[in-house]
Amino acid sequence: MPHTQHEFANRTANSCRRFHWIPSVQHSPCRPRINVETYEGQYSANKASEVQKRTFGSAATQIQRNPAYSELTSDDVSYFKSILGDNGVIQDEDRITVANVDWMGKYRGASQLLLLPKSSVEVSKILSYCNTRRLAVVPQGGNTGLVGGSVPVYDEVIVSLAGMNKIISFDNVNGILTCEAGCVLENLSTFVENEGCIMPLDLGAKGSCHIGGNISTNAGGLRFIRYGSLHGNVLGLEAVLADGTILDMLTTLRKDNTGYDLKHLFIGSEGSLGVVTKISVLTPAKLPSTNVAFLSCNDYTSCQKLLLAARRNLGEILSAFEFMDNNCIDLAMRHLEGVQNPLPASQTKFYVLIETTGSDESYDKTKLEAFLLRSMEDGLVTDGVIAQDISQASNFWRIREGISEASVKVGAVHKYDLSIPVEKLYDIVEEMRSRLGGKAEVLGYGHLGDGNLHLNILSSKYDNNILAQIEPFVYEWTSAQRGSISAEHGLGLMKAEKIHFSKSPEAVQLMGSIKKLLDPNLILNPYKVLPQSVL
Ligand code: FAD
Ligand code: MLT
Ligand code: ZN
Repeated sequence: MPHTQHEFANRTANSCRRFHWIPSVQHSPCRPRINVETYEGQYSANKASEVQKRTFGSAATQIQRNPAYSELTSDDVSYFKSILGDNGVIQDEDRITVANVDWMGKYRGASQLLLLPKSSVEVSKILSYCNTRRLAVVPQGGNTGLVGGSVPVYDEVIVSLAGMNKIISFDNVNGILTCEAGCVLENLSTFVENEGCIMPLDLGAKGSCHIGGNISTNAGGLRFIRYGSLHGNVLGLEAVLADGTILDMLTTLRKDNTGYDLKHLFIGSEGSLGVVTKISVLTPAKLPSTNVAFLSCNDYTSCQKLLLAARRNLGEILSAFEFMDNNCIDLAMRHLEGVQNPLPASQTKFYVLIETTGSDESYDKTKLEAFLLRSMEDGLVTDGVIAQDISQASNFWRIREGISEASVKVGAVHKYDLSIPVEKLYDIVEEMRSRLGGKAEVLGYGHLGDGNLHLNILSSKYDNNILAQIEPFVYEWTSAQRGSISAEHGLGLMKAEKIHFSKSPEAVQLMGSIKKLLDPNLILNPYKVLPQSVL
């Protein structure tokens, strides 16, 4: 590895407590892109209804097809062809199969129709028709969702936004991007970077996920610690309601207190209240100096203390603080091609990736260097490297972002995405390990700076005995900490019936009323987000 040992390493008493120091990375490290790959699930497409009744999505998910929905007829297909043309109406088996299965190969529907509208008016015509006919619909973006929200459960019509991928405008004075919902996040990043800005969010799925999908899931991701939630960064949007009404809320104003801010209903509602068709989003300035450090810590308490110290000492330049336990690193080394652990193999239990982004290269470097030296002297960090070029930075990020990809390669992934006070966040990983006693591999990683744990439990195949050890324990435990059972991935199909672990009955009831007001025939993304009982 072309590391250059930093001069101050010699001043530390223990030669293991060293840093490999290198110049700052000038551009955002190019992170890996993922494409949607569907892993052959353990159940075939013709067993779609059985899939829903299996419990591997989440315990006790017993969903029957709602008989109020019509079944698709050839007249319906002819109507869709009349508004979208032949190219917008997909019945080809291979393409439908891909759209029926989620990214993990875990949730599989049995839709026979994929629609590809090219405008809001076409979306409006589709929904208005489906509403009248009572045909259920699943809005689909890049299909990278992790909770079974983006694929049909039964025979719902899939409405993909992939054909609506135009950038409408970019206001470079105010850094405001306006575009269609089907734009791929990575393409938007490239576009705004050429204009001197960055997208306020970034995630491992950027090469496939759509901005409309990001908004519909209220995706968090790797820049949340710096730029915050999409509830703050999305300025306006256009959505099409279930009856075909086009709701224009596409303002680009920073401040607008005229009545209820309805756009927030569509941010994070996972396609259950409308189809998002256009958005305007704030894009912060792209700063010239980026540094990425990959560090090891002996225990979780040190990771916590390091976070506090980073907040206090790196403050304005801190742009990511991600953590992974040793099991994650082992997994990444086993399953990700070409990836190397930048630190020597040791007894390390935890790894932390810190990124800083600022406007003054020498100031940022000095600040980070001083911080790392102090952290080593205080015993919070045992070893570490700082990327000396984009390729090293990319390798560090590849390890962190590749954990999901490596996880699905094991076979079965039970994925939990929890918000928990940072002090308690790793307790659930340890408890889960002792509950499972070696029957499954338990990984803990996530956006520590946001109090967001990703708990992945891996086994070679789905096994109800393992699931029974996990659920409802994981939800009860999280609820007891007053945490959230979905920090950023959403509820989808997996957790629709679990919302009460994080929300009061009154709040869930009100959500049900809002759903029924906006979508009285319940055609939008059925069986997802809310429990069947409130509808
Ligand atoms: P889809 O998966 O297609 O859909 C997700 C949900 O949104 C579904 O309920 C769907 O019906 C609805 N939807 C999609 N488009 C629209 C629309 N235009 N209008 C209305 N509803 C719509 N998530 C994070 O929050 N943080 C991460 O760091 C993160 N990292 C990931 C890394 C990997 C490798 C993978 C595979 C996933 C990751 N995810 C992450 C989860 C996922 O990528 C996000 O939830 C993403 O925002 C989904 O976007 P999508 O376009 O793929 O949406
Ligand atoms: C992540 O932070 O890597 C994502 O949310 C995806 C995942 O947990 O699989
Ligand atoms: Zn995440």
